[in-house]
Amino acid sequence: MSIVYPSLEEARLILNDYLSDSNIIRHCEATCQKALRIAKILSAKIQVDFDLVSIGALLHDLGRARTHDVTHGYVGGKLLELYDYPASIVKIVERHVLGGFTAEEAVRIGLPERSFVPETWEEKIVCVADKLGLYAWKEIDQPQKWLEKMDNRFAELQQNYAVTEPYHTSMQRAKHFVNAMVRLAMLK
Ligand SMILES: [Fe+2]
Repeated sequence: MSIVYPSLEEARLILNDYLSDSNIIRHCEATCQKALRIAKILSAKIQVDFDLVSIGALLHDLGRARTHDVTHGYVGGKLLELYDYPASIVKIVERHVLGGFTAEEAVRIGLPERSFVPETWEEKIVCVADKLGLYAWKEIDQPQKWLEKMDNRFAELQQNYAVTEPYHTSMQRAKHFVNAMVRLAMLK
């Protein structure tokens, strides 16, 4: 039996109810579009659930209504649990921060001791789409440019924050995900 997800319209209502910062909403909408493009490209090689990708991407930063620190993924997931959202959506939201956190890393940053590492393709796609610039990106259809775009985003973060552990390791993990996707996308 397949899961019936809430509609994008319903997700958008929740997003707009919680978030007042129009730039964050714009980022969420742009991430949704980019994630769908990545999903479309990868779907030539793997099975991807487009509805799951789009709704997870749209809601990925919901937790920023409460906090902008690295726990915002976890916090967003908790908010969605109040609406009885399916676990598959909650996990996308919880696991999108940097390249996710292992149980051991999670404890170090004040999260519950369990894995917050993206596992499914849908979780990885949203995690990667989030790192490919803040807003719309017209070169999203060129997988060979994805890694450089992520590198630029991380360079920005490194300029603004002292990137210590476990954040550095988490960023490396995100790069590993994008590399795997690029290889898959370019596979003849
Ligand atoms: Fe985020």
